[in-house]
Amino acid sequence: MDTNTVPKPNKVVLQRLKGTQDVLPLSVADVGQPALSIHLWQQLEQLLHQYFQAANYQEIRTPSLEYTELFARGVGEATDIVTKEMFTFERSDRSLTLRPEGTAGVVRAFVENGLSRQPKPVKLYYCGPMFRYERPQEGRQRQFHQVGLELLGLDTPAADAESILMAAGLFRALGLPQEAITLRINNVGLPEDRALFRDALKALLFAQLPQLCDTCQARYEKNPLRMLDCKVPSCQAIYRQDTVSDFLRQYPWPDSSRVPFEQLLVLLNEMGVSYVHDPYLVRGLDYYTRTVFEFTTDRLGAQNAVCGGGRYNQLVETLGGPPTPSVGWAIGVERLLRLMTPLPPARLDVFVCSQDIPAAFRVAEHLRAAGLRVEVDLSERALGKQLAQASKRQARWALIRGESEQQADEWQLKHLDRGTQQTVASLPDPQVFFAS
Ligand code: HAM
Repeated sequence: MDTNTVPKPNKVVLQRLKGTQDVLPLSVADVGQPALSIHLWQQLEQLLHQYFQAANYQEIRTPSLEYTELFARGVGEATDIVTKEMFTFERSDRSLTLRPEGTAGVVRAFVENGLSRQPKPVKLYYCGPMFRYERPQEGRQRQFHQVGLELLGLDTPAADAESILMAAGLFRALGLPQEAITLRINNVGLPEDRALFRDALKALLFAQLPQLCDTCQARYEKNPLRMLDCKVPSCQAIYRQDTVSDFLRQYPWPDSSRVPFEQLLVLLNEMGVSYVHDPYLVRGLDYYTRTVFEFTTDRLGAQNAVCGGGRYNQLVETLGGPPTPSVGWAIGVERLLRLMTPLPPARLDVFVCSQDIPAAFRVAEHLRAAGLRVEVDLSERALGKQLAQASKRQARWALIRGESEQQADEWQLKHLDRGTQQTVASLPDPQVFFAS
């Protein structure tokens, strides 16, 4: 190639997109933020699989990219997520979207792959990246991760209760401080009963409509329940009036919307799960029927929801499947990590110092197979320098092979914390390490 045509090094510093994060092989202390340390992610992921599988939930992985229509129909045309927050683009005349949440994709996969014909309930979990074009702030990213659970094919208070117990149990298993987490729960009724509820709420607020913010005025027509979620203080003052609060607390839902929810609360009481029945809890996704809940915390500032979920009895049908009442939730991983206490990262066991590279590779493979964490010095430098490297890498032991050890086909095993040394065979018994 003509050297004149070699492109000049690009001086522009490339940066990650706003609202996205790198997860780095550094400790939490080094990066200063739990979500940026891969050690904490791995701690979480290792526990997750065991935790869900112990309750016979199976993992499902669906694509990050789906047809936009899935979310428009699934999450709801009028929701903030669909109207404002999706990363959507065109390819070959089709509109595609990076998934803003996991449930719609799981339900699509459930229908498309015939999982709907499996014995019910079908119990699934997932973990993966989600994308929402929101204003980034502490605890709110544009690419974030969710761990989710979906229990498909049962409409019983026990199914709701299990899903909630699974979330609470996961927080416990991860060692989260129990007093820092509150379960809020509410009943938003079945869709056929909600229309009357919505009309009654609108009638109650009609006289105060001119005092409400623009967003609430728009929601009044499109999605009145979401008005209750407004953070504007003057709107809050209106919604917190006794007339509204009493209406919400005492609304006479018909039996089909009310009884199973009350039975769920009884079950939670019996299981000793504390909760707050919060009549103002409404969710930002349209698919919920009856039970909705959130786990919030006082430790994360404004973005205080760690987990959100609820029952969705019609979503599977909406997406072309058979009637399949379901319930589920998703936890925000980055928020969860901020509540976890990191374990110290695993330490390197053995650092192999040798200029006899084949022997070094052989002993490393032998010891790794026995479960030890082993690294080989690849520098081919003098042994003294390799040994210094062993200390820098904070290994417990160094295996050293100088000329005499090479001739005798053995190793010097040095305990780096104690400074003691012994001779071992070319493929030493791993018990020597485990015992010391
Ligand atoms: P969601 O409430 O929209 O529900 O999200 C669940 C959790 O994801 C939130 O509680 C929060 O922890 C986290 N999260 C949401 N947006 C962000 C963000 N921009 N940055 C960081 N974390 C975020 C759902 O997504 C439903 N699919 C849950 C569900 C499953 N319902 C039934 N099944």
